[in-house]
Amino acid sequence: MSDREPLLSVRNLKKYYPVKNSAFLAANRKLVHAVDGVSFDIYEGETLGLVGESGCGKSTVGRQLVGMEQSDGGELFFCGKMLDKAEFKRQRAQLQMIFQDPTASLNPRRRIYDILSDIMVGNGVCTRAEAKERVNGLLKEVGLPENSAERYPHEFSGGQRQRIAIARALSLSPKLIICDEPVSALDMSIQAQILNLLKELQSRLGVSYLFIAHGLGSVRYISHRIAVMYLGKIVELASSAELFKNPRHPYSQALISAVPVADPEKRGVKRMITVGEVPSSIDLPEGCAYAARCPYATERCRRERPELVDINGGEGSRNKHLCACFNMEVAREGVATHEGVIVHEGASAREGAAEEPAVKEGA
Ligand SMILES: Nc1ncnc2c1ncn2[C@@H]1O[C@H](COP(=O)(O)OP(=O)(O)OP(=O)(O)O)[C@@H](O)[C@H]1O
Ligand SMILES: [Mg+2]
Repeated sequence: MSDREPLLSVRNLKKYYPVKNSAFLAANRKLVHAVDGVSFDIYEGETLGLVGESGCGKSTVGRQLVGMEQSDGGELFFCGKMLDKAEFKRQRAQLQMIFQDPTASLNPRRRIYDILSDIMVGNGVCTRAEAKERVNGLLKEVGLPENSAERYPHEFSGGQRQRIAIARALSLSPKLIICDEPVSALDMSIQAQILNLLKELQSRLGVSYLFIAHGLGSVRYISHRIAVMYLGKIVELASSAELFKNPRHPYSQALISAVPVADPEKRGVKRMITVGEVPSSIDLPEGCAYAARCPYATERCRRERPELVDINGGEGSRNKHLCACFNMEVAREGVATHEGVIVHEGASAREGAAEEPAVKEGA
């Protein structure tokens, strides 16, 4: 496959959940617009970060990509072919997922050897006779000692269990791994180790990642490009460098201003505060979903919904800078970046910002 063609193309993906305990009759039941027309591409050997606050639909996107959830609309293309039911069955092994809590997905009564060898033998990757060598190779690949194979999941630390989950995801040599907040439950120092492991594996194996997180801290470190999601939609998508240098959507600006700054010289940049209530994804407003919290919102924003448009004029989806905002020119004037431009007076850090690791290159 040429590096101009995406490995995965997601087009207009939708997922709506009926609201539980809704007082409405089934026919009129209200829906949560968990994922509301999401499109993006992921290229071979690339990491696309997917960020946004809790409940904006990140995991629902991820779960649909690995078939854990049926879509209510949209299309997926993998290696140039539409992922219909039959094609998905053929490609299932190529699409793997790791989660925030590896404990929940590792059977506590089975040794690591059994967990890993069963998957490989079951999928025809190797024979029983070859499994021992294969398992040891996988464990080495994720930085675990060889004797780990004979142990049970509870004998490992949180970081080591995430390594086991990564080994399991790798066991079928996938082309794409959906990483759903894989480091957010770990201590800071361990977070950096797991991020570095994912990066190393990518450069060795050429695997692609969709890396999901709340904030931009760890995402910036690992992602080539970043998509920012707000209430079921992507509001901005650009290369990591471009997004941090030139964030155009006010919500991206708020997320960037919440990233802890490791360099003391650059501290003191005022934070862009995000005020106002998050609208419900059940009764989405008519206009821009961010308007209620946006410092630049006008009448038009409350009435009309802005589409994602390319502001870069780059060729191919890889080089585009997409943004959905009527006031991106105005927003640019007040941009918050790590280079120290000040945004809104009297602002404070967003809640949850401190959860992101301030990872340095080469940490
Ligand atoms: N199985 C489900 N049934 C009903 N509603 C659901 C279901 N799964 C998710 N939702 C709703 O869909 C929306 C998106 O949820 P999702 O878990 O994808 O968000 P998220 O961005 O991953 O959040 P977080 O950062 O907290 O993990 C939320 O409003 C959530 O309550
Ligand atoms: Mg989630």
